[in-house]
Amino acid sequence: MEWIKYHEAEKVFDLRTEHSTYQMQVREYDTLVHLYYGSPVGDALITDRIVCVDRGFSGNPYEAEKDKTFSLDTLPQEYTAYGNGDYRINGLETEQADGSDTANLKFESYEITKGKYSLKGLPAMFAKEDEAETLEIVLTDRVSGLKAHLLYGVFPHLDVITRAVRLENTGTAPITVKKAMSMEMDYEYRELDAVHFYGRHNMERQMERTHLGHGNWSVGSIRGTSSHHHNPFVILCDRNTEETYGDCYGYALAYSGNFLFETEVDQVGHTRVAMGIHPYHFSWTLEQGESFETPEVIMAYSAEGFGKLSRIYHDAYRSNLIRSKYTEQPRPILVNNWEATYFDFDADKIYHIAEEAKNIGLDMFVLDDGWFGKRDNDWCALGDWEVNEEKIKGGLPALAEKIHGIGLKFGLWVEPEMISEDSDLYREHPDWALKIPGRAMNRSRHQLNLDITRKEVREHIMNQIFKVLDACKADYVKWDMNRSVDNVFSAALPKERQGEVYHRYVLAVYEMMESLVQRYPDLLFESCSGGGGRFEAGMLYYSPQIWCSDNTDAIDRLKIQYGTSFGYPISAMGAHVSVCPNHQSGRTTPFETRGIVASAGTFGYELDLMKMSEEEKKTAREQILKYKEMEHLVQSGDYYRLVNPFENNNHVLWQFVSKDKKETVVCGVRLHSEANPYIYLFYPQGLDADMKYEDTATGKVYTGAALMKAGLPLPLTTGDYQPIRFTFKAVEK
Ligand code: GLA
Repeated sequence: MEWIKYHEAEKVFDLRTEHSTYQMQVREYDTLVHLYYGSPVGDALITDRIVCVDRGFSGNPYEAEKDKTFSLDTLPQEYTAYGNGDYRINGLETEQADGSDTANLKFESYEITKGKYSLKGLPAMFAKEDEAETLEIVLTDRVSGLKAHLLYGVFPHLDVITRAVRLENTGTAPITVKKAMSMEMDYEYRELDAVHFYGRHNMERQMERTHLGHGNWSVGSIRGTSSHHHNPFVILCDRNTEETYGDCYGYALAYSGNFLFETEVDQVGHTRVAMGIHPYHFSWTLEQGESFETPEVIMAYSAEGFGKLSRIYHDAYRSNLIRSKYTEQPRPILVNNWEATYFDFDADKIYHIAEEAKNIGLDMFVLDDGWFGKRDNDWCALGDWEVNEEKIKGGLPALAEKIHGIGLKFGLWVEPEMISEDSDLYREHPDWALKIPGRAMNRSRHQLNLDITRKEVREHIMNQIFKVLDACKADYVKWDMNRSVDNVFSAALPKERQGEVYHRYVLAVYEMMESLVQRYPDLLFESCSGGGGRFEAGMLYYSPQIWCSDNTDAIDRLKIQYGTSFGYPISAMGAHVSVCPNHQSGRTTPFETRGIVASAGTFGYELDLMKMSEEEKKTAREQILKYKEMEHLVQSGDYYRLVNPFENNNHVLWQFVSKDKKETVVCGVRLHSEANPYIYLFYPQGLDADMKYEDTATGKVYTGAALMKAGLPLPLTTGDYQPIRFTFKAVEK
């Protein structure tokens, strides 16, 4: 089957996936209009929905002559530029050599190819030749010679369509691009809500739903990273869409820097959407013959609510975005020493924790911040990637060898993008930090961003880090990033190129990460930015897991992990059992509950194992075994959100189901103890109605239909924050 077709007579592009259709049409004066994105419509071409009406103050292109009804200001389009009588938000803003800002994009040509396009130096979904098709539509500004190559990647079996734009200057004069969104799309009149994921450090990806009224609505980041504050994943949906019902559209930007997701509901209720690099302090000059590629937006459509939309993203990322060999393999269960020791450790203390880790059945020890330079606090030493021999007597390779010797893997924390003023690196190269000449720098966590847009800087840092990783034969790296980008000025670039610094910074991060994954294909790579400050599709291209939040409190994590699950696979969320009272919230929760919550992610521990009671060690051993039993479901099963922590429920529940529907685990937390309590029922989803399932704890057997429709009671528990776990397996009875 051909998934992308061009219907010559009607001039319609028809893009299909198994459960969605996307159509565009070349209309009068070579204008590319958007026709439809939604449920499959058979062979129909949706050309009759566009009604051209003369609207006051919506002007007309010169070629339209006396036709006052054809206006770019009211037509639904695919990719538009400022300065052509379309006064809504536009995807492209340029400055032409004469100082004008108009680029009038007209359809020129198209090409359909097997396989998926790729983007140079940028993360993007990949595909084998038979897994995807690419459509490239070329729009041209005939005056300046600027071409916009609109790229569409169609993944029929994943129900995903990706978009990106390559801008090419085929004219003779330089053109400065001031805004280059990755995609733009228009909805016909429709009342839409936006579901987005806002937050802060220690409380990332909180879910919020907003009605899109007339005017503009946006979320974005100008922090140089995607940020804790707004996630580059947004859902647009009908007003009645919910978890298991209704139309919704996902927009995910695979990019780790400044971003903007913007919408405008116009004068007649159409909604325009655009997503891409934030135009704040962005400019990119294209000399004759040069090109610029935008990052990719990964779009998905579900007619069955948010749950289905999330499962589309989970599957798509696991199979065609994350490249690590660990994506489908059991991940080592780790212990990380950050919350156990912070900066206060030596080789003996670390080794004892590692021994205890082995003793309770863990697979890997991760040495966090503080092992290098003179790093005894967070004021200093970033940039000095040599072992601190005062703390680690005998050196890191010897410690790593000892840890390997007891049968554990060994992992290391690094923060390659940073420099401390109190470091040998800064003393030697003060100009290697991003700073604006003549101005005092803004510090954050006392540190500065390295100017990694400079090749010599990134090479120096990576060579230092490679040396350490080689010497201790590291099995895992946690790549951290603990401040927003600021003092944005590169001494290595001329004045007129300073608008490129933010994007060049992100390209540099990608180049550094690429060098790491190429050099160590077997390394398990976890990315991190003060917890979940860079939890997005861009990072997943390099690392199969991301530290979800610096907040390890099990109850706060219910919301953080719930919000994260909308756009990202559960197997990507780093989640650890930590000590109580919790270091971030001061809350005390049962050890088992902490285990249940951390099991909805890549499981690990982050506490001083030496200080655990015998009882806790016994529970930890059981937790580890239980996690290993369900790990394949976390990694490759289907995920269902059953009960929402953002609503006033007594409990929160989620569920994993194997792809063959023969196994399911329902987990959750009963939040508050109640006297004389209600009997709460839970209703698993995604089972085979006719299959019989045994509750492995009681041996009782139920049909899938009975479980899903009639439900079962939650256990009666006393005390707050009680754990819930049910396992059902299909039986032939
Ligand atoms: C960040 C990370 C933490 C820890 C510290 C170390 O905050 O998110 O997990 O590694 O840095 O400084």
